[in-house]
Amino acid sequence: MARNILISRLLPDEALAIIPPDVVSDLHASHDPLPRTDLIDRLHGKHGLICQVIDVIDEEVLAAAPGLKVVANLAVGYNNIDVAAAQRRGIVVTNTPDVLTETTADFAWALLMAAARRVVEADAYARSGRWARWDWDLLWGADVHGKTLGIIGFGRIGRAVARRARGFSMRVLYADAMRAQPAVEQELAAAHVDRDTLLREADFVSLHTPLLPDTRHLIDDRSLGLMKRTAILVNAARGPVVDEAALVRALAEGRIASAGLDVFEEEPPSAANPLFKLDNVVLTAHFAGPTWDNHVARFRNAFDNIERVERGEAPNWVVPELGL
Ligand code: GLV
Repeated sequence: MARNILISRLLPDEALAIIPPDVVSDLHASHDPLPRTDLIDRLHGKHGLICQVIDVIDEEVLAAAPGLKVVANLAVGYNNIDVAAAQRRGIVVTNTPDVLTETTADFAWALLMAAARRVVEADAYARSGRWARWDWDLLWGADVHGKTLGIIGFGRIGRAVARRARGFSMRVLYADAMRAQPAVEQELAAAHVDRDTLLREADFVSLHTPLLPDTRHLIDDRSLGLMKRTAILVNAARGPVVDEAALVRALAEGRIASAGLDVFEEEPPSAANPLFKLDNVVLTAHFAGPTWDNHVARFRNAFDNIERVERGEAPNWVVPELGL
């Protein structure tokens, strides 16, 4: 029997070329999100769905697709999917973590470095025509090497971020409900501490937790109040892990030095988002994951997950239930 899949968003030809001729794929060939009613309509009769982080796959969507066997999220995070509802219907939910681990860690470091050394402000200055002479006291930032890096969420990405810190001779602290094996702590020279200690002692706090009910607003007024005035916050995880209004206040009042954010509470953010008015924050548009190097591999992983479920095999990456 022909396998039918829905692909919720335009993807590059070289990725789509992976799909064998005996699979019927219904591609939403647009950069715009598939409207919810179309998503529901087009899922009818499909065995698999390849979707992205901005597609909301909830109970109503799942209920409209009785033949659906697998939802393959082209992402490592999966808070856009009601995993419990999928499990109740026997639908497998998969993600694509492995190809995104190192890439996301690279990007968290890009934000960290850019915020620490004020790269975005320096770029604007270099282009501005104000560069009349060399100044010794221009746009001072903070050193990175030798400082303390605090990692909240010590899964794959958090560990990959820690590994990079060795090249900067940093002290690495991590906070996570699950303590890593001693061999991992030793390899990464990372010390497990409680979250408050991490927030008090870290010069850089980098977030790598999934979005769960108990990680929502994990960084709030109280936690920002524990951080050093010189501290820099990095969020390449999920926007709602940070109470954005509290962060804006802390940045505006100089209670922490700066932040590098790839994710927002509301995406895309409204033009009135107060973060846009602040100089001491580096902002990017939720693109820590996708690169030239990983886009085909990401799609291959997602598609392979669908094929494996179709063949009755275990997919490479099944997501656990998050209790959303
Ligand atoms: C991107 O946000 C991802 O979860 O892969």
